[in-house]
Amino acid sequence: MRLENKVAIVTGGSSGIGEWTVREMVKEGAKVVIADINEELGQKLADELNQDGKHTVFQFVDVSKEDDIVSMVNRAEAEFGKLDIIFSNAGIGAMHPSTELDYEDWQRIISINLDGVFLCAKHAIKAMQKTGGGSVINCSSILGHVGQAATAAYTAAKGGVTNLTRALAVEYAKENIRVNAICPGYVDTPILDGVEPEMKEALISLHPIGRLGRPEEIAKAAVFLASDEASFVIGANLLVDGGYTAQ
Ligand SMILES: NC(=O)c1ccc[n+]([C@@H]2O[C@H](COP(=O)([O-])OP(=O)(O)OC[C@H]3O[C@@H](n4cnc5c(N)ncnc54)[C@H](O)[C@@H]3O)[C@@H](O)[C@H]2O)c1
Repeated sequence: MRLENKVAIVTGGSSGIGEWTVREMVKEGAKVVIADINEELGQKLADELNQDGKHTVFQFVDVSKEDDIVSMVNRAEAEFGKLDIIFSNAGIGAMHPSTELDYEDWQRIISINLDGVFLCAKHAIKAMQKTGGGSVINCSSILGHVGQAATAAYTAAKGGVTNLTRALAVEYAKENIRVNAICPGYVDTPILDGVEPEMKEALISLHPIGRLGRPEEIAKAAVFLASDEASFVIGANLLVDGGYTAQ
């Protein structure tokens, strides 16, 4: 097992990519804190995975609130003794023509999708410094690399995550703390629930592979970056996008 004796936090762990990453990490031997605002789904997942022992706990956290993040890191240390891995995956999607995007909506998207990633890294890295190393994995997007109409706030946030990842990677590499990001293409998760079928078809056509991603395909990339197999991978923004950005 590739994550034996490791302790991880997965934000946004109740659903979609986060849920599948929790499943994969537990399969690989990690103890995992499922951190999310969705208590019902997160607790259900924890109960399912704990049938043969305590592999996970659910912790309520709103990643735009620094106090919640401090409590989340404290919980990982209290339950499992340390913190080795954080996957800062919580995020929200949004499509608005930019001239109709209220400043409040802009701020909400930035505070969850960018500020939350910074705050998670800040407090997770402090915990990792106590044990001499760790792996921070941020969730960016293809929209951290290329633009798309009507996604100004989301794309600005993900572009921020892409370069925040590089800045943190350089800052903490010598402390054996590896910071990387995953940049998924469109993945079939509840974040796309509101997307009309024609729009979904249009999105599929942008991926040379001819389909959307599956959340478990992103989860496997997260496990790789979390594991010691990625010991020389630092500051990477790993595109897992079915070829979206290659064309
Ligand atoms: N699905 C895609 O097409 C796609 C593509 C590229 C990047 N991403 C990114 O992947 C990540 C996961 O998205 P997903 O597709 O699994 O979506 P999802 O909606 O299935 O899961 C997102 C999770 O984040 C949680 N969350 C939302 N706001 C939160 C907050 N303030 N604090 C804590 N938790 C919060 C939700 O409750 C949910 O469990 C996001 O960062 C998203 O931007 C998704």
